[in-house]
Amino acid sequence: MIRFSGITPSGHAQLGNYLGAIQRWAAEGGEDDLYFVSDLHAMTTTHNPAKLRGLSGELLAVLIASGIPPERVFVQSDLARQLGALTWVLECTCSYGEAARMIQFKEKSKGRTGSRLSLLTYPVLMAADILLQGAAEVPVGEDQRQHVELARVLARRFNNTYGEVFTVPAAVLPPTGARVRDLADPARKMSKSARDSAGVVSVLDPAELVRRKFRRAVTDGGSVPEYLPEQRPGLANLLEIMAACTGTKPADVAAEYGSYGALKDAVADAVIETLRPVRESATALLADPGELDRVRRAGAVRASERGEHRLQSALRLIGAG
Ligand code: TYM
Repeated sequence: MIRFSGITPSGHAQLGNYLGAIQRWAAEGGEDDLYFVSDLHAMTTTHNPAKLRGLSGELLAVLIASGIPPERVFVQSDLARQLGALTWVLECTCSYGEAARMIQFKEKSKGRTGSRLSLLTYPVLMAADILLQGAAEVPVGEDQRQHVELARVLARRFNNTYGEVFTVPAAVLPPTGARVRDLADPARKMSKSARDSAGVVSVLDPAELVRRKFRRAVTDGGSVPEYLPEQRPGLANLLEIMAACTGTKPADVAAEYGSYGALKDAVADAVIETLRPVRESATALLADPGELDRVRRAGAVRASERGEHRLQSALRLIGAG
């Protein structure tokens, strides 16, 4: 069984990426699992090429520093030819309406003229990522569930229409931390591409900055910590973050603290300790670009060899190749 997932270098890796995704990728890994930096996905809105290259290296370092074995990581653009071909095959399997229904597309294109076409089609590229590698399980946070569903629909449709090639994938969500919210605006999910970073904790943020961000976290009225996600989303977010860092339940965390101040300090401590080894190890890796480059090149060869036969079968079955 292959587990497979990716992270887009649209900004610095943040706490939501870590708790909702990366932490589990490192903990639950099996030998055939693959995790990747989806740099081709970071071009669906205006982007800066030099910044993208830098962030791709940074995220690759964060994946390895988080405990994912270097032989299970790769960078998406190193498979650009295979993925470009399979994306086309899958675009010919997907309707316009299915792509336009994606929540992220609707949110990001709303009120804009001149959105890139790739903003509409990127879930199909994401399906190609997943199906090329034969992934059975795709561990993601809540926001990516709909995209994995699309990959599932396209795999079934292709198999039924042309012949069995693709494994039908399923999204797997974490028990807590599936949707970490922005500390300054709990109505929004924490996002690496947020304009204002006051409520976004980056994995590589220094400890003092992390503490400051938690002290300023918005915690909706009341004074005694209680776990009420609907009425008090800001407070619930802190409790969920603590639970995800310590492997406990949010309601149990609430019962332990008498004041918001004490809770905020405790959550900051837990996050700082959780991220410390990742930050230290990522910093060391980034100081050794030769090693990072070696890992990247080896990952490219492995991932592209593993996927090639599925691409060839798919091309043959549709009457091409
Ligand atoms: P990306 O880079 O937005 O996010 C990477 C992972 O982090 C999770 N995540 C969160 N989890 C909890 N709380 C949050 N606030 C939060 N923000 C992000 C995401 O759910 C995701 O699991 N398109 C994908 C990358 C991708 C991919 C794939 C994933 C490309 N191809 C194939 C799986 C399979 C993306 O942009 O994730």
